[in-house]
Amino acid sequence: MNRRTWIYQSFRWLAGAAVVHQTIGLFKAQANTSSISQHNLPINSNNPNTAMSFELPALPYAYAALEPHFDAMTMEIHHSKHHAAYVNNLNAALSGTPHADKTLEELMAVVSTLPVAVRNNGGGHYNHSLFWKLLTPQAGTAPSEALMAAIQEKFGGLDGLKEQFGKAAMARFGSGWAWLCYRDGALNLCSTANQDNPLMDIENEKGCGGFPLLGLDVWEHSYYLKFQNRRAEYVTAFWNVLNWDEVSARFAQATR
Ligand SMILES: [Fe+2]
Repeated sequence: MNRRTWIYQSFRWLAGAAVVHQTIGLFKAQANTSSISQHNLPINSNNPNTAMSFELPALPYAYAALEPHFDAMTMEIHHSKHHAAYVNNLNAALSGTPHADKTLEELMAVVSTLPVAVRNNGGGHYNHSLFWKLLTPQAGTAPSEALMAAIQEKFGGLDGLKEQFGKAAMARFGSGWAWLCYRDGALNLCSTANQDNPLMDIENEKGCGGFPLLGLDVWEHSYYLKFQNRRAEYVTAFWNVLNWDEVSARFAQATR
């Protein structure tokens, strides 16, 4: 085997190994149903025993469970394709780097110093992991007494919050997220571009920092199949499937 042939064969072997690695990683991720964690745990943080293996968390409900508000096909593609891609790309971006054993929260805190692939895919993984937990097929959840008091103080009530949150979601040009955060002792509304989020050092400097209580994905992939260009209808539908129990638990965590 001459040198050129050896290099070619080596490249083919490495490429094949990468595919196998990715396939196994995805299988492990999809088989794992334990990553939907308790309220007070970091979101899908790395297991110290399995560093370099962020995993796609299973949804705590069926893809069709949020019908008719959020449709099953969108939920399935959003979770099994879009979110899965963020997880796989994040693992690839971290592989072999000194940041491989960091939690998502640790990565977000120093994201300005990391490659853009970590920012985009780490943000994508964090945001979506949170988003699934913020949704529920259970009707009738409501803000806790303490959260309701904070909403009343800041927005004059739930209607005020929904109106201003909706404006933040609609004003985000292109792809991004709308957020309700707890920052400096009060509720704060903001939005971020792409997969950025309030935990990122870069966002904190821009005024969208603090602890995220709820976030709404306004990428077209999250609503286009059902709502096409009607983002406002999607934002309205979101309130019907929002898990206020989860938001309240996060508020309690932020204020304790
Ligand atoms: Fe999304």
